Amino acid sequence: MRYVPLGASGLLVSPICLGTMTFGTPVSELDAIRLTHAALDLGINFVDTANAYEGYARVLGSPGGAAEEILGKALRDRRDRVIITTKVAAPVGPGPQDRGLSAVHIQRELDRSLRRLQTDVIDLYMIHWPDKMVPLEMTLQVMDTAVRQGKIRYFGVSNHAAWQLCELLWLADRSNGPRVVSSQIALSLLRRELQNELPFCEKHRIAVTPYQSLQAGLLTGKYRRGASPPADSRGAEKPDWVWKLDNAMFDRLEAIEALAKEINVPMSQYALAWTLAQPAVSSLVVGAKRIEQVQDAVAAIDVAIPPEHFAKLDAICPPPWRHGDPVRG
Ligand SMILES: NC(=O)c1ccc[n+]([C@@H]2O[C@H](COP(=O)([O-])OP(=O)(O)OC[C@H]3O[C@@H](n4cnc5c(N)ncnc54)[C@H](OP(=O)(O)O)[C@@H]3O)[C@@H](O)[C@H]2O)c1
Repeated sequence: MRYVPLGASGLLVSPICLGTMTFGTPVSELDAIRLTHAALDLGINFVDTANAYEGYARVLGSPGGAAEEILGKALRDRRDRVIITTKVAAPVGPGPQDRGLSAVHIQRELDRSLRRLQTDVIDLYMIHWPDKMVPLEMTLQVMDTAVRQGKIRYFGVSNHAAWQLCELLWLADRSNGPRVVSSQIALSLLRRELQNELPFCEKHRIAVTPYQSLQAGLLTGKYRRGASPPADSRGAEKPDWVWKLDNAMFDRLEAIEALAKEINVPMSQYALAWTLAQPAVSSLVVGAKRIEQVQDAVAAIDVAIPPEHFAKLDAICPPPWRHGDPVRG
């Protein structure tokens, strides 16, 4: 495994980070523990979870915790081999303090995450979503306290815009607070809306750790036009977690697959390699149900997209409009 810097943190992480959102269901506790151990044996040293994750059992406001608990068991005797990241902000109960970014909620949930993960310290603690009610100054103060208490080592954000990262850096400068080190965003060949924010992260050495670069399995080629989703796939088991498949989507998927065939790699590896090649991208948070899927993701690290393919991919999956581009339409 070759390891890459996680922004300016000094940490070196594997370019594939194991996602745990499906630990519990459909990935049973035993399978999740085996999967985690197999990932570590392949050289993966970066694992992503959240206080809210509990597999397919998750509904908005349900208590979460299942994935962290399973991960805690899996890492009990190998804690030092991994960088653990977990998140806070999503609703985990019906009460007014069961969500968001108040100090009450963050501090309570941080202690719960530490307990479930069976660790004294979380390496990278992430704000899962912005909370419109809470100014970023307040969030930074809570993170600063957690670093000083030794409960977290670094903090990052997820689903934040570049202007929010900019404000966090500016506030950290003014208050001598901790710098945001990473940004976890949705980014795949099919989901490029945030691509124009990557140069900001590159300039300020904020590591981008995209999620759903396989677009929940769509970019693996397992879903075929005119056929039902394969049994045992997310499309069959949890269709509301997979984008709708229509003819326009199959046109795109088939065109991407044809390009992957040109270089003799599976579409899944091709899609991951494209995301890894984007500016500021450090490590992809990839979900897996089986060990072969983790092996497949790790193999993508060595795949290089031919330079002439990037423009062809732009024609299939257009990039977002940039200042200076001709006005479309
Ligand atoms: N920060 C956030 O807001 C946020 C949001 C969502 C996710 N995440 C993180 O990102 C991680 C990944 O998300 P995700 O699982 O939804 O998306 P994903 O990585 O795009 O999709 C993973 C799913 O695709 C299928 N798959 C993977 N490799 C495959 C292969 N080689 N061949 C065929 N199928 C394959 C598997 O599902 P099946 O086999 O069941 O079809 C697997 O569970 C999560 O675990 C979580 O850690 C973060």
